[in-house]
Amino acid sequence: MTSFDRIDLNDRVAIVTGAGGGLGRCHALELARYGAKIVVNDLGAENAEKVAAEIREQGGEAIAYAGSVTDEDQVQEMVAATMDRWGRIDILVNNAGILRDRSFAKMDVSDFRLVVDVHLMGAVICTKAVWEIMRAQGYGRIVMTTSSTGLYGNFGQANYGAAKMALVGLMHTLAIEGEKYDIRVNCLAPTAATQMTGGVLSKEALELLDPALVSPGVVALSSDAAPTRAVLCAGAGHFACANITLTDGVFIGGGEDAADRITDRWEEIADRTNDITPRFGFTQGQRELKSAGAEDVSMAGGG
Ligand SMILES: NC(=O)c1ccc[n+]([C@@H]2O[C@H](COP(=O)([O-])OP(=O)(O)OC[C@H]3O[C@@H](n4cnc5c(N)ncnc54)[C@H](O)[C@@H]3O)[C@@H](O)[C@H]2O)c1
Repeated sequence: MTSFDRIDLNDRVAIVTGAGGGLGRCHALELARYGAKIVVNDLGAENAEKVAAEIREQGGEAIAYAGSVTDEDQVQEMVAATMDRWGRIDILVNNAGILRDRSFAKMDVSDFRLVVDVHLMGAVICTKAVWEIMRAQGYGRIVMTTSSTGLYGNFGQANYGAAKMALVGLMHTLAIEGEKYDIRVNCLAPTAATQMTGGVLSKEALELLDPALVSPGVVALSSDAAPTRAVLCAGAGHFACANITLTDGVFIGGGEDAADRITDRWEEIADRTNDITPRFGFTQGQRELKSAGAEDVSMAGGG
């Protein structure tokens, strides 16, 4: 992109989930500012309507759709209504989310399930509902909202961290499967002052963490020039990428003392000097086979 090319989202249609407030609202406003037509989804009609009205007041096009991302029928209806209205869906921002923080010792399994349901299954249901449309169009941009908790861990957020990291796994495979159809799938790991973080972050931090400073990252991930399979970390105007890397490792082989030798050589196994970021899951297996002396063994099975 030259310095004169501005991102243009005119003629693009975007669904932003959980956009009745917080980060989702800012994403919706910023996508609209770049010309995209917006479906503002949230649980409550009132908040979603308010944001859609705000976009329209600023000269954009937007409709509100109240419904839960966990409800397949409601999501199908939202997608059908969007297709009826604008005939395509180019961008999906899976942003809706909740917290049920507690130490794992005190966490109910039902709260664990609920958090996984909203973050992971909500994103799966919305993505599944637009996937065929994007494949048929030969164009799609999908943003999953992960979190530093999933990437790196935080006390009291085992349910949330597990759900958020699951979205990174979902992104990796969908990006591979979507590549042929120009469907690009990325993750955003935001840090922002919202109702979600009001009780978690300090007052000084909250003042610097305007959610509107995150949304340009969503626009970049939603543009024609978007990367694919990136985890974009964004907060307070700073942008960085997180990666899942693999160390060089060592060949231990088998034998009755294999576990002892792993322990003895732990520093070498964990040494990050020559880390790589594999492009496929198979890369790990291929390296393992190579280190076992099998250069030419194919990983792919099937019969
Ligand atoms: N704020 C941060 O620092 C931060 C950090 C990491 C990740 N995130 C993620 O960013 C996203 C937005 O968070 P936020 O901070 O703006 O929080 P928020 O609570 O302000 O916004 C979340 C929105 O999602 C909506 N929502 C909840 N369940 C829903 C459902 N089932 N269907 C549809 N909408 C639903 C809520 O009504 C709310 O409007 C979430 O996925 C969150 O996990 C936020």
